[in-house]
Amino acid sequence: MVAPRAQWNSKLGFILAGAGAAVGLGNLWKFPYIAGENGGGVFILAYLACVVFIGLPLMAGEIIIGRATQKSPVGAIQALTHKGSFWVSFGWLTIAAAASLLSYYSVIAGWAMYYAFMSVTGELTAAGTVYEDVFNATQASGATNLFWHAAFMALTIAVVLGGVSKGLDRWSRILMPALLIMLSGLVVHSLFLEGFGRGFEFGIGIRPDEFRATSMLAAVGQAFFSLSIGMGTMLTYGSYLKRDDDIMGASIQICALDTVVALMGCLVIFPIIFTYPELEPGQGPGLLFASIPTGMAQMPFAGLLLTVFFFLLVFAALTSAISLLEVPVSFLIDRFGWTRKKAAVVAGGAIFLYGVPSALSGIEGGLFSGFIWQLDGIVSNYMFPLSGIGLSLFVGWRMPDTLRHDHFLSGSKFKVFYKAWLTLLRFVVPVGIAVVFLNAIGVV
Ligand code: PHE
Repeated sequence: MVAPRAQWNSKLGFILAGAGAAVGLGNLWKFPYIAGENGGGVFILAYLACVVFIGLPLMAGEIIIGRATQKSPVGAIQALTHKGSFWVSFGWLTIAAAASLLSYYSVIAGWAMYYAFMSVTGELTAAGTVYEDVFNATQASGATNLFWHAAFMALTIAVVLGGVSKGLDRWSRILMPALLIMLSGLVVHSLFLEGFGRGFEFGIGIRPDEFRATSMLAAVGQAFFSLSIGMGTMLTYGSYLKRDDDIMGASIQICALDTVVALMGCLVIFPIIFTYPELEPGQGPGLLFASIPTGMAQMPFAGLLLTVFFFLLVFAALTSAISLLEVPVSFLIDRFGWTRKKAAVVAGGAIFLYGVPSALSGIEGGLFSGFIWQLDGIVSNYMFPLSGIGLSLFVGWRMPDTLRHDHFLSGSKFKVFYKAWLTLLRFVVPVGIAVVFLNAIGVV
């Protein structure tokens, strides 16, 4: 006998878990510097348009595939087509993409865990600490990286082991509000910093001359990454959603929360950077792991600030990581009838091993030198767009209309938008993503 599909405890559980998947390292590290470098407020407007016209329709589409079939990506697309159909390859692609992303996401989250640990022990605020050096040493140490990568994966597996209701739902309900409280606290703190005005101006001020052609592409790519679409996570989460919950309504709330957190991220980060002339709103993870600690360490209550900041990062990363692990786990359970325990341990263990080259990639001149950023390039520039195009075309053109229509309308306050949604999904979403993709591979 097939066990009934697991379900979220409530619609709120789904929204918090979905927002947990979306809110991650991307909001706090990628969004602020991308916005800052691409014209600030103009970029934010472009980004909002991408969220509304590309991200939101596809998110709802992914959730619809999941709920309509009650299956994880491969089984879901198979159920709507047939075994061996071309479309099923997009299901496989999402699993490969989720596993690839998690393999190195866990290494970066491991740094956050290590920093959180050092902020609790007081090591991070020791006098004379040079944070650039700490970060360089962290990246260059294979043992440190492997240890924290393992610790973070173990934590992720532990949550996923609990299942949908007692693992994903319960932990999202705890971690997401905690994250919002910590983030709000940091925003209030940043409001009183000397660099607030300059930081605000840099992140949010409108500077149209700095908005280039590539900025639009950066906006689409960031919207994808940040909203967690094209990875099968929203599809899988949708497969646990009750029949009459409003999918469009939930998607709007998830997109809104994710965007608000990204904007709050800017409000925290830039005032800190601009309070100290020696810091730069530079690119990449150094912003979080070197510049921010350098600034915070010079402030009153430095220990508390650093602790809150790094726990915030760990919480944000954890709720994203569990959604990524759930994709292969759900597949193994559906396909092979494995127990959740076996599926979580095997998939989590395999992804840990997959992450080893990333964990060792900071060793100068080593075998895997730079691997983590190459993998990030493959995932962000190829896997995300390809599966995004596939999934949008699938929902838009191939999925049976009655099913699509039914699930869009069921319990929804947004029934009148069905036509608009379908048009976006059929044309705007795939074309928008294709432009990004072609650009990434150098065609346009
Ligand atoms: N949205 C997450 C972030 O912003 C990353 C992510 C992508 C997580 C896809 C799950 C699936 O960090």
